[in-house]
Amino acid sequence: MTKISRVSASEIRDSRGNPTLSVTVACEDGSQGTFDVPSGASTGRYEAFELRDGEGPQSHVLKAIANVKGEINGALLGVAVTEQKKIDDILCALDGTKEKSRLGGNALIGASVAAAKAAATSDKLELFVYLRKLVRIAPSEREFPFLYMNVINGGKHAKTRLMFQEYMIVPQTESPQEAVSIGKDFLAALEKEIVKDYGAQALVIGDEGGIALDVEDPETPLKLLNEVRDSLPNPHSVRFALDVAASSFFQHNHYRIGEKKLSREELLERIASYTTAYNLLSVEDPFEENDFTSFSALTRSVPQTKVVGDDLTTTNEARVREAIDKHCIGAVIIKPNQIGTLSETLATMALARANGIECIISHRSGETLDSFISDLAFAFSVFGIKVGAPRAKERLVKMERLITIESLQNT
Ligand code: PGA
Ligand code: ZN
Repeated sequence: MTKISRVSASEIRDSRGNPTLSVTVACEDGSQGTFDVPSGASTGRYEAFELRDGEGPQSHVLKAIANVKGEINGALLGVAVTEQKKIDDILCALDGTKEKSRLGGNALIGASVAAAKAAATSDKLELFVYLRKLVRIAPSEREFPFLYMNVINGGKHAKTRLMFQEYMIVPQTESPQEAVSIGKDFLAALEKEIVKDYGAQALVIGDEGGIALDVEDPETPLKLLNEVRDSLPNPHSVRFALDVAASSFFQHNHYRIGEKKLSREELLERIASYTTAYNLLSVEDPFEENDFTSFSALTRSVPQTKVVGDDLTTTNEARVREAIDKHCIGAVIIKPNQIGTLSETLATMALARANGIECIISHRSGETLDSFISDLAFAFSVFGIKVGAPRAKERLVKMERLITIESLQNT
């Protein structure tokens, strides 16, 4: 069992060009692991704190880097790298705050995941095999997750009038290879349709690689997706899903869409009608992040569609427990940097699955070239993984890692 000999960090840029951390854990036996930390734009209020040197997402992360090289390095020196729980307990205790605001959630998740990667290398195991050794999670019926591909970007991921954040296609196959090819064909057909309806200048790309369509009515993109699907050789090859990210347009007790101000009841009615009309597989964050009551009302009214918590639950065990107790969700978004350590992420996943709640692992809108989440998704046979549009490299590397894992299974 090798021990940690050094934890280091440097500044890199994420897919939006903003500074973030690359953290490396090195061990006495020479093995090492690196995690490039992603960053969200539509962050939930209850997420772990992202430490930056100044205001705004463009500011540097040199303080977080100094925390890794200083306090975190000092505290983890000599700890067995395979003791993930111990490592994460040390990180949490060292930070000492509930939101991980002293050392930074970005510094902590960097060290935590980098340690797991180093341990897998030291044990000469594929990362997904190593992850399975860390926790017992109730088995699932799937092998590979559904790929959720965000093809129309709105909300905080685009500078348009569209308030709903993500319009996703979900290829109906368990093969990542096939899913990516269905996704690419769909995206090409969608672009063609958009050029036809709105002109070539409408092909603006949003943060997650989808098209930032400048329309106001949140139903317009769904109509467009339906048209494209109907033109496919096999229209049953995809289903659709939404991330409303409703907190981002909740103001003064109303949901603001253009000139309209919707009450929670009116929004619920709309979303329920979309789920039926477009046979939606899932709907994420249909209401603002404190409204457990409306989540559970929607869950009751659309039993055929999974209501998903993201800003509501923030990969936080206590919030997921509350959502389960109040019957708010059928699935939960899992983002390791939302909570700040790998052990807490795994505990939240275990809690969800033990209660029959599906897990959907997710990238962030500001991504890096890291593919850790693909190993995490495959390790525990989760229901889905959100990977953006099959276009930008930082999204494709996650899909490519799943394809590599798929080929490993067949050899
Ligand atoms: P973020 O959003 O990565 O910009 O926070 C993604 C999401 O809401 O799912
Ligand atoms: Zn979301």
